[in-house]
Amino acid sequence: MGIEPVMQHQQGVALITGASSGIGKATASLLATSGFRVFGTSRKPEAETGQPYELVPLDVRSDASVHSAVQSILDRAGRIDLLVNNAGYPQAGAIEENSVADVQAQFDTNVFGVLRVTNAVLPIMRRQRSGRIINVSSLLGQVAPPFLGVYASSKFALEGLSEALRRELRPFNIHVSLIEPAFAHTSFVGQGPSQPIADYDAARRAVLAFARQGVERGMDATDVAQQSVIFHHTSHMCASAVMSVPRAAPTRVFLMRLAVACGWRPNTVPMSSAWSVRWWITCARTWFRSARGIVAE
Ligand SMILES: NC(=O)c1ccc[n+]([C@@H]2O[C@H](COP(=O)([O-])OP(=O)(O)OC[C@H]3O[C@@H](n4cnc5c(N)ncnc54)[C@H](OP(=O)(O)O)[C@@H]3O)[C@@H](O)[C@H]2O)c1
Repeated sequence: MGIEPVMQHQQGVALITGASSGIGKATASLLATSGFRVFGTSRKPEAETGQPYELVPLDVRSDASVHSAVQSILDRAGRIDLLVNNAGYPQAGAIEENSVADVQAQFDTNVFGVLRVTNAVLPIMRRQRSGRIINVSSLLGQVAPPFLGVYASSKFALEGLSEALRRELRPFNIHVSLIEPAFAHTSFVGQGPSQPIADYDAARRAVLAFARQGVERGMDATDVAQQSVIFHHTSHMCASAVMSVPRAAPTRVFLMRLAVACGWRPNTVPMSSAWSVRWWITCARTWFRSARGIVAE
């Protein structure tokens, strides 16, 4: 099928994975009201009603599901201008407590899921010679706290892929951005490890209780969603800086509290100062990449 002109929906056609709740739902709603024709996805779209966008079935862990969803959008809308890779979940627990299967499942959704959808959409965007891909990473794509290391490593991987992809796609006028929220108030639920170890119980519970509290008190999902609209209209911008650097102070407090929750004491244990140093290096690196426009365009 040929590529349709941008036409009746002024801003074009957007595909948002994981649009049944949280950041994905807020992003899909905001884009729909901003003039996009929006296709959101869910593994159980029939369970959702009343949203101002079309919901299509998609499981990012399945090649067949991804191809059928992308084909159905292409058949209905003729093009895809914006892809927001948002579907994801956090695998919790100490590294040792997670089986290889736990880690594979985490990467299957958070990393390979993004690859499947991106690779299905790219031939369309390359034919159009235009497009934007926004990958929803996390602050934990920059720093890996204890007991969320599996999740953080999946977001680190996503950041690496995004950085390379951005350069590969520039000749085709396809732009790649990263969004790195800190805590957002959503129904984000951590998946527990399949082989819990009693020695880690107290520290794991403390960290996860703290993370749950952070999500409950987190920024509105619509604030995160705003970034997708901004990026779509911006030709040169560092996504990382937008979400994380203005929140450097609260984030530093978060990391310190996390370290304390894990049993480290600020004045006695080098880890707390290591966190601090690591955090400021991360900030400096982010600013540096921002200044050079490396992270996202
Ligand atoms: N909330 C936070 O504090 C926070 C912070 C940083 C980054 N993030 C990132 O933001 C993104 C969205 O999280 P959220 O907080 O909005 O969580 P959420 O409310 O739990 O939403 C997650 C969405 O992902 C979808 N999903 C999960 N597994 C899927 C799969 N295998 N295939 C297709 N869809 C799948 C779910 O859809 P169905 O269940 O309907 O299929 C749901 O719509 C994630 O990538 C997360 O890592 C969140």
